[in-house]
Amino acid sequence: MSTPATLNLTSGDPATTPADALVVATTHVGSFSVVPGAMTKATVSKIQAALLSVGATGNADELVRIPGAGLCDAPVIVAVGLGNNKGAIKNERLRRAAGSAIRSLAGFKKVSIAIPASNASQVGAILEGAGLGAYTFTDHLFSKKPNSKVPVRSITLFTVLALDSESKKQLTRARHVVSNVHFARDAINTSPLHLPPAELAARAKSHLAETSVKVTVLDERALTSQGYGGIMGVGQGSSRGPRLIRMEYKPRGAQHHVALIGKGITFDTGGISLKPPAGMHAMKGDMSGAAAVIATMRAIADLKLPIAVTAYAACAENMPGGAAQRPGDVITIYGGKTVEVLNTDAEGRLVMADVLVRVAQDNADVVLDISTLTGAAVVALGHRTAGVMGDAHIRDAVHAAADRAGEEFWPMPMPEELRPLLESNVADIANISQRGGVGQREGGMLSAAWFLKEFVPEGLPWAHLDIAGPAFHEHAAYGYTHKGGVGFGVRTLLTFVEDVLAGSVSLQSK
Ligand code: BES
Ligand code: ZN
Ligand code: ZN
Repeated sequence: MSTPATLNLTSGDPATTPADALVVATTHVGSFSVVPGAMTKATVSKIQAALLSVGATGNADELVRIPGAGLCDAPVIVAVGLGNNKGAIKNERLRRAAGSAIRSLAGFKKVSIAIPASNASQVGAILEGAGLGAYTFTDHLFSKKPNSKVPVRSITLFTVLALDSESKKQLTRARHVVSNVHFARDAINTSPLHLPPAELAARAKSHLAETSVKVTVLDERALTSQGYGGIMGVGQGSSRGPRLIRMEYKPRGAQHHVALIGKGITFDTGGISLKPPAGMHAMKGDMSGAAAVIATMRAIADLKLPIAVTAYAACAENMPGGAAQRPGDVITIYGGKTVEVLNTDAEGRLVMADVLVRVAQDNADVVLDISTLTGAAVVALGHRTAGVMGDAHIRDAVHAAADRAGEEFWPMPMPEELRPLLESNVADIANISQRGGVGQREGGMLSAAWFLKEFVPEGLPWAHLDIAGPAFHEHAAYGYTHKGGVGFGVRTLLTFVEDVLAGSVSLQSK
């Protein structure tokens, strides 16, 4: 497990406070300049001259490192470019700038940040980006990482703003967001050998142990006797049985109730409809939705949000063992509807279907499901953007929450003509689209949403978040995003729950 860096917020002059490194922000609005923040004019002009002399431009994402001797009380200065920011700087630009600066400073222990915030929410964004930038995953290393790879341990943001309750709230929130995104990243990065469904359930229990969240876990016996045919069908090809994790947070006097459901396929081989081997290792990230809901529950409980939240993580390992389900099998989802499994690799929707039906008993006001559901989502939106579908008002509220949280989502339609393609010859519905008896790939993200909709309780407002693209990052690190597990969705789910609490989400059923 990785220990997150400590995050601190203070007033004072960052240049005269001892640290191992100082992060300053630069811009290029017509010409290059260092943004003063909490530093004195004299310091700023000296640092600016030094940066100019090594060719700094202030362009977005630029990182320049110079010696701090004679300029400040830290041996190293890192200047991070904010680019051409006319008008207000967007929070996400600040998050990324702080993240890439801190990421580049692995090996330094104590870092001061002089990136200026013009309001409390920017304080939160900078702290969050910085904290998320300080991450590494070492659980499976026998030999210790060299010091140069150890993430920054202590981060202090210097601000000219009043240290009022609003900025302190942002500091607390950033701490909880960071530690929980790290929890999700750790779970995703863990070798799938080490993370069967029972282990994911054990992690959920221990992560939530000292909170008021009640965790109950159904094992394969309970799942079978209670009729969870989707989760059991997917899990039956593995020697390591499935689990359904239920997490309940019910503070007294709560006015609203949100339900969250995460896909927890601890490894997706495709089952008998086996995936090609190239890139299959990334399917250890197929439990990213589950990791996101577990992490979000802990953040909600730690922040003591006065809102009820019930979350589920539907966990199974999709393996092609001798007892695995076959293409052509008909399985019975919780509540009785039957599904013809035409492709065992379309397994996420099967485990989610069980829980969507189950959630009717919780009497929530709204349900979000989050899953790495389709390769089609990656084809449509690429590796950094997730799709969101479902009831238009909830879909748009998720999109709006994500935008403020700094996660990229895009609203997708559910075209009517795709629904009939899920008809089955022998069961109530098939798990993949077909046209003339042949699987139809086109619009795969959208037909998956149609499949899920079949199981959404009547009258319960719903959105479906397909995070297949951004959940697992296989390219070069950028901003606060590292290679591997991203911990995607935690910030959006938390922000959405806060929005419901604030009364800014319409919860009528449509
Ligand atoms: N877990 C995959 C989806 C996925 C693909 C997630 C790439 C992350 C990156 C899912 O279970 C799956 O295999 N879906 C199939 C569905 C198809 C058979 C209808 C897919 O997208 O190919
Ligand atoms: Zn699959
Ligand atoms: Zn999957």
